[in-house]
Amino acid sequence: MTKHSVVLIPGDGIGVETSAAMQQVVAASGVDIDWVVQQAGAGCIDEHGTPLPDETVQAIREYKTAIKGPVTTPVGTGFRSVNVALRKTLNLYVNLRPVMSIPGAGGRYDDVDLVIVRENTEDLYAGIEFEEGARDTEELIGFIEAHGKGSISKDSGISIKPISVGATRNIVEFAFEYAEANDRKKVTAVHKANIMKHSDGLFLREAREVARKHEGGIAFDDKIVDAFCMNMVMDPSQFDVIVFPNLYGDIASDLAAGLVGGLGLAPGANIGRECAVFEAVHGSAPDIAGKNLANPTAQILSAAMMLDHLGERDAAARIRNAVRAVYSKGEHLTGDIRRPSRTASEPASCTEFTEALVDELS
Ligand code: NAI
Repeated sequence: MTKHSVVLIPGDGIGVETSAAMQQVVAASGVDIDWVVQQAGAGCIDEHGTPLPDETVQAIREYKTAIKGPVTTPVGTGFRSVNVALRKTLNLYVNLRPVMSIPGAGGRYDDVDLVIVRENTEDLYAGIEFEEGARDTEELIGFIEAHGKGSISKDSGISIKPISVGATRNIVEFAFEYAEANDRKKVTAVHKANIMKHSDGLFLREAREVARKHEGGIAFDDKIVDAFCMNMVMDPSQFDVIVFPNLYGDIASDLAAGLVGGLGLAPGANIGRECAVFEAVHGSAPDIAGKNLANPTAQILSAAMMLDHLGERDAAARIRNAVRAVYSKGEHLTGDIRRPSRTASEPASCTEFTEALVDELS
């Protein structure tokens, strides 16, 4: 059996609990993992002087695969988001979020099976912003007016939305390659090209260009983002692989997670050419941290994605099947899940849920 080395960043808040649950389930799946434990987040500032120590980044570069629990971003402390820093430092340009119905998980639909591919490096998340009233903001407003590009009220704050040819080609190419490797049928590009011609318009043009190269295999279509939202809510089963610029992808991920039962179920990954970091979509949930109430499903399904990435597809499938079995029996579900009325018992703890899952795997 192959032994894999994987960097584990347990995170903080409920991350500590969901990471431990995830390790137990991966062990029960029979895959041999050597966990290289590294730290990130507010808890390591005292010791390392930074929320993202160099040795953590170095370990991910060395071992190439990591799984991370959520970390808290304290508000108003100047504390840099560890997630954004990791994405930038390691050029993790893909945010991958599969969304699948799990019968018994209280979702609104039983037939969702789609994959969100979100560009992770640019768009309004590039962090290029001009503060209301600042001198450079005034200069920018002056420049825009002088070039006949329109007028902007002097009391405006401005965020810049860059969308490049290179990043668009990379993300759409990834979407097609993912579709081909995972037996998917269609890629849909989502945009607002009718309004933002030079950013979303470019995204759509390049997406079509990449699609042309894949003609004859994976089907391609596109949707304007507002129509996409309505279509998602009315019939999410019509979507397969969906590729987005950064902001729409972020919003669509939570929308999709909500349709199948909520944040406790949504796995994800940040992927670059060299490294991949797997993590749940949810945050550190300070309101329930340390109480053994967290639902570890999202991190466990993130681990299943990680096992696919490591070539351990059988183990990944067994974990997903075990998750489905625990939900369909409905006897050991955590409190965040709308439970079937036949289940009169108290919600299960994180530990009880994990034990039920381990039992299914053994
Ligand atoms: P959150 O996702 O932590 O919590 C939102 C709500 O969902 C809370 O009521 C929480 O109890 C519930 N929830 C989330 N995950 C759950 C789970 N696995 N089981 C049961 N209930 C769950 O979002 P929030 O409150 O906006 O953020 C809290 C902290 O997490 C912030 O500091 C934020 O910056 C950070 N965060 C970190 C992320 C990461 O490290 N990947 C991602 C998102 C937020």
